[in-house]
Parts: sequence; structure tokens; C-alpha cells
Amino acid sequence: MNQTQLQVPETLSDLIKQLHEIFANDKISVDEVHALMESYKSNPAEWTKFAKFDKYRYTRNLVDEGNGKFNLMILCWGEGHGSSIHDHSNSHCFLKLLQGQLKETLFNWPDVKLKNQELTKQWEKTFHENQCTYINDTIGLHRVENVSHTESAISLHLYSPPFVSCHTYDERTGHKNQVKMTFWTKFGERTPFETSTSKENN
Ligand SMILES: [Fe+2]
Repeated sequence: MNQTQLQVPETLSDLIKQLHEIFANDKISVDEVHALMESYKSNPAEWTKFAKFDKYRYTRNLVDEGNGKFNLMILCWGEGHGSSIHDHSNSHCFLKLLQGQLKETLFNWPDVKLKNQELTKQWEKTFHENQCTYINDTIGLHRVENVSHTESAISLHLYSPPFVSCHTYDERTGHKNQVKMTFWTKFGERTPFETSTSKENN
């Protein structure tokens, strides 16, 4: 990491402004974005308007389109909600906890030479409020879960460049499926004509 002093964002708006400045450059530092995301101290008053839940599965709620360079979104995880195992379409993925806890399980890519091979785990970690984790396709695949049966979880995700589809993977066989992602809300408003039947995962 370089010597630039991290300017701690006081609000979510500050964080978004700083992210715009960083991503205006062609090359970004993963460490810098990670540190910036982690330094924002979650304040529900600033993000609650984006935090819209569905009782059946986790939701994706668009917060900012990052001037075309990134998508910033808030994911709302009800008790027991989790994602499939998925890749990230050659994008950077930063995940920061705004409320509650999420378990991340990192998997190795399936060996293309081996058919019907169970995916192998690298590790499992639990992330707590304000912590940030990072993944891209060179690191592996992951699953994210709110394992709590009593508390919901809310997370802030940054994807760069933005993407609209990824692949999900069957843990037992390694088989993959392409899935299109949709938003439950955009800028705090319910997205019309998109239903909870979509299979977004990221
Ligand atoms: Fe992901």
C-alpha cells in the first residue's frame, strides 16, 4: 500500500464521493478501496432508505452507479438467507458489513478435467459489523450466508466493473449455470416488473 493518508469518510455520502475519486483513475489499489470501505463507520440513518428486505430471499438494492465504473449496492439478508456458490465475472468485489454478521465460505474453482467433482473449501470466515472482505475470480468462488436465525444482516457491496450476470456452481458436482442479476430496489425505489423469482447471486 502506498503512503497516502486514508481520509476516513464521515458519512455514506463522503464514502461514495471518495469512491468516485478513486475509480476515476484507470488503475485502482485494492488495498486502498478495502481500507476505505472498512473505515466507514456504519450509521443506519444514512443507509436505511436503501435497506429493503424480502421475506423469501436476500435482496440487492442499488445505491450508486459509480459513474459507470462501479456499482455500489446494499444487500439485505433475512435470517438464514444465503447465496449460491458463485463467481464474479472478472470484477472486483468488496463486501462490507453494515449490520449483523455474514459467513463467507471460499471454494476452489472446479477442475475442468474432472467431471462431477465436489467443490473443495479453502476456508470459512465470519465478518462482523464494519469489517470488509474482498474477492475476485483469481482468488476463487464463494458463498455468503447469514447463518443467524434471530438477526438479519445488511452489507454494502462494490463491484467494478459493473456486471449483470455471473455463474453459480453446484457444490456437489461443480456444474455451473449462468444467472442474470436484478435489483430489488434502485435508489430506494422498488424496481418495477422484477420479481423475487430471479436467481441473482453475488
Ligand atoms: Fe460474491
